[in-house]
Amino acid sequence: MQENLLHREKVGCMKVSQALLARKSCRAYLPQAVEEEDIRQILHFARQAPSGTNSQPWQVAAISGVTKKTLDAKLLQAFQSGAPKHPDYNYYPLHLSPEMQQKRVACAMQLYESIHIDRDDITKRLEQWALNYSAFNAPCALFFFMDGTLEKGSYMDLGMFLQSVMLMAEELGLATCPQAALAEYPSIVKDLLGYPQDTILLCGMALGVEDKEAAINGYRTPRDPVDAFTKFFN
Ligand SMILES: Cc1cc2nc3c(=O)[nH]c(=O)nc-3n(C[C@H](O)[C@H](O)[C@H](O)COP(=O)(O)O)c2cc1C
Repeated sequence: MQENLLHREKVGCMKVSQALLARKSCRAYLPQAVEEEDIRQILHFARQAPSGTNSQPWQVAAISGVTKKTLDAKLLQAFQSGAPKHPDYNYYPLHLSPEMQQKRVACAMQLYESIHIDRDDITKRLEQWALNYSAFNAPCALFFFMDGTLEKGSYMDLGMFLQSVMLMAEELGLATCPQAALAEYPSIVKDLLGYPQDTILLCGMALGVEDKEAAINGYRTPRDPVDAFTKFFN
């Protein structure tokens, strides 16, 4: 199977460094459907990600069509009705360090500035945030789970798998956005898709063709220089 996949025209033409630079969080998509074969191909290669004792703890739900429409509506309804968010794990600590808080604010400001939403325009900011619950209207959303008995090590494994998924999508000309927002109401997702409630939902991910005309896709987030986070010891 792998050989067949490698012979497909779309695969095998991008360097890792190119994929790393090209990947970005895409928050507006064209309606063009994502072929199941492309999703299979992405996952076929992403499963090469390393994991402790080769445990391969990832479980993926790829949703589109009627299922996605149904889930979008349920998640949006939960958000709009003010239902309490109850993610399976805390992504962030309750109190962020000043440095992290500064990065968080800068990230949000950049996003809203790119679509000319004023810092104080709460209504428009909420409208933009609400688009998270339909995976920014991407035709496909991926949901990433792992068994509820697993520990922090497996979160690392899932992180490596997620990045592999995003880089492979890039190679196939597809855009992504990893989304913690899609894991804010895990019981809704698990109920609809038939996963046991004690499974851990890590996050969702929008998947589709980027709308290059959309202003929100037009900005790139900065990165700290290597020397800001690295010490060399000889
Ligand atoms: C696990 C994870 C969850 C994220 N959740 C969201 C989300 O819910 N909504 C969103 O708009 N972006 C989300 N992001 C995207 C980040 O904001 C984005 O990766 C960061 O600002 C860097 O920008 P870039 O992905 O364009 O390089 C998430 C990223 C990760 C890795």
